[in-house]
Amino acid sequence: MDLNNNRLFQTKNYIDGQWCESAGKLAVTDPATGALLAEIADGGAEDAERAVAAAHAAFPAWSGKTAAERAAVLKRWYRLIADNREDLARLLTLEQGKPLAEALGEIDYGASYIEWYAEECRRAYGQTIPTHNPAMRLHTIRQPVGVVTCITPWNFPNAMITRKAAPALAAGCTVVIKPAAETPLSALALCALAEEAGLPAGTLNVVAGSDSAAIGRVLTQDARVAKFTFTGSTQVGKLLMAQCAGTVKKMSMELGGNAPFIVFDDADIDVAVTACMATKMRNAGQTCVSTNRIYVHESVHDEFVDKLRAQMQALRPGHGLEQGTTLGPLIFRRAVDRVHGMVEEAVANGARLLLGGDFLPNGENYYAPTLLTEVRDDMRIAREEIFGPLAVVLKFREEGDVIRRANDTPFGLAAYVMSENIRRANRVVEALEYGMVACNAGVFSTTVAPFGGIKESGIGREGGVEGMAEFYETKYCCYGI
Ligand code: SIN
Repeated sequence: MDLNNNRLFQTKNYIDGQWCESAGKLAVTDPATGALLAEIADGGAEDAERAVAAAHAAFPAWSGKTAAERAAVLKRWYRLIADNREDLARLLTLEQGKPLAEALGEIDYGASYIEWYAEECRRAYGQTIPTHNPAMRLHTIRQPVGVVTCITPWNFPNAMITRKAAPALAAGCTVVIKPAAETPLSALALCALAEEAGLPAGTLNVVAGSDSAAIGRVLTQDARVAKFTFTGSTQVGKLLMAQCAGTVKKMSMELGGNAPFIVFDDADIDVAVTACMATKMRNAGQTCVSTNRIYVHESVHDEFVDKLRAQMQALRPGHGLEQGTTLGPLIFRRAVDRVHGMVEEAVANGARLLLGGDFLPNGENYYAPTLLTEVRDDMRIAREEIFGPLAVVLKFREEGDVIRRANDTPFGLAAYVMSENIRRANRVVEALEYGMVACNAGVFSTTVAPFGGIKESGIGREGGVEGMAEFYETKYCCYGI
């Protein structure tokens, strides 16, 4: 692997401050070419148990440090990530596929969680409560929940780790992470830098492995684990929630979406198209907040579609490390086949194919930017999360009707509203049943704001002060005097 800092290329799991070998090997490949990047230790349930034990043993010392002491370590970690951003981005592009510019953006985004929570942990204030009884004094204190286990996805192999681990560590928790089997190298590289930053042994552990179910069972069922946090599909999230129930763990779940993107007749169409491209084509459409259903008012439909098609045609598929690439591959072939199947089914049911609709010669995981119009709400393509470079346009006439249609889904993660009318924008933003709504913007994710969904899109928030609160217990303390 061609990196400036070879210490970032780690092929063993990181448990209790040690790089640990396993009997089996897990192959990590470049989704753009299929080339073998690494064979890493294929961790399993036993490794996960050792990691939980290590995190449990490390908890008293780490949680016993002052916030300033924890912040100092986290800030060193942040600075090391910033110093190694090019290498980390290169590694990320190689194992995940996104264009290098996007990977660099993810490294900066991921690092920003570490910097922000290093600062935020110094403000973990409790309260003094006006007493109900003159002979008593009432306070609250905030204490770290304990051992936190995390399962993180392949679509953001760096930032989804730091978004969970940074607030947990800052709060005084210790952490075990199972990264996606497709993208463990970014997770292990983060560990190498955490070790260099002086994070004590056992405080942060990574167990990568192909047997997700076995590792997942330990992370969700071990009684020493206080909190479990997951980013991934709703289907898997439900299973993991059930597994957590046996020991009544605290949980945060960042699950699937079916984001509506509503373009009103009073929208600035150029702004709307730019926002749509950003939400739809970022990471080749493989983000949980990617637009899924684009509702366009019938009076601006043709103008919007023409402009969207022109921008989609201008995308340059290629290897993420090649200069000028703006569209990488999907993560694996089954994702490509799934998207293609949805397109074929929609077209067979009356949707109109305006662009793409086919595989690309770049490699077996590439799918053409695809634009479908005349889509109906009852089509699978409008009901299921797409996770590909596929834009699906539906028409509407009435504001009330489009709100009803946008809300008619079990999901409630992100929604987008395009309108220059401030009254309408306020009205619609409030009426949409989603955890996050962006108005006249296509990318809204940031460290400083709460990210998360309602309904079947999840529980809890990541980022902002809300993201930190997830890792504390509030203890009520009553003193008789
Ligand atoms: C995700 O797709 O899970 C996260 C996307 C983001 O942070 O914007």
